[in-house]
Amino acid sequence: MTASNETNPPVSPAPSESPSVPIHLRPARPADIPALVPLLLRLKRLNEEFDPLLKVRDDADEQAHAVLAANLADPKSVVLAAEGIGADRDKVVGVVRAVVRERPFYVPEHEGVILDIYLLPLYRRRGVGEYLLREVSTALKAKGAGVVTAEFPAQNEIASRFYAKRGFRPITSIHARSL
Ligand SMILES: CC(C)(COP(=O)(O)OP(=O)(O)OC[C@H]1O[C@@H](n2cnc3c(N)ncnc32)[C@H](O)[C@@H]1OP(=O)(O)O)[C@@H](O)C(=O)NCCC(=O)NCCS
Repeated sequence: MTASNETNPPVSPAPSESPSVPIHLRPARPADIPALVPLLLRLKRLNEEFDPLLKVRDDADEQAHAVLAANLADPKSVVLAAEGIGADRDKVVGVVRAVVRERPFYVPEHEGVILDIYLLPLYRRRGVGEYLLREVSTALKAKGAGVVTAEFPAQNEIASRFYAKRGFRPITSIHARSL
């Protein structure tokens, strides 16, 4: 299930392990925040479609600015910006946001949590997501993570499939009910 403006393009013949992904990936900088906020909000609105308990707040725009600013100042966070190439050169077309968290009771003691991964629909199914995942995993490992996890709505089957294909399996789940 995807939002109407979230339709994926047809499968590209390009193999997902292709090193020539149609983006340029780099660490995000504070100047990127205005371009990253709409991508984050698109992802959160997509999440809202999966579950009413993920309803997006009215002030989500300001929150996204604040959260990204905090992440960019936090050495335990990783935010990578994907820029397009060709006509989309210098345009941010994707983002991955992650943080290293301590696991007080388990080993490995530090976990790299992928909180958000989002690509504009035109850039999907060409191996870019896999490339983002590989690069964010490397960055999280460099910050001490011994395991990488991903958070996404339980109903997001595309995300489930995307991660399962890369060796991820569910280890815990969050169950919710309204109060
Ligand atoms: C998740 C996302 C980043 C994956 O990026 P991507 O570049 O499309 O992924 P890749 O091309 O590297 O890998 C494609 C694989 O992902 C899964 N996948 C991606 N889109 C899919 C779709 N529409 N239907 C089924 N599986 C899909 C499949 O396993 C696919 O492998 P296949 O092409 O061999 O079937 C991208 O689809 C996206 O931005 N989605 C919207 C946001 C989102 O749901 N984020 C995850 C939750 S936080």
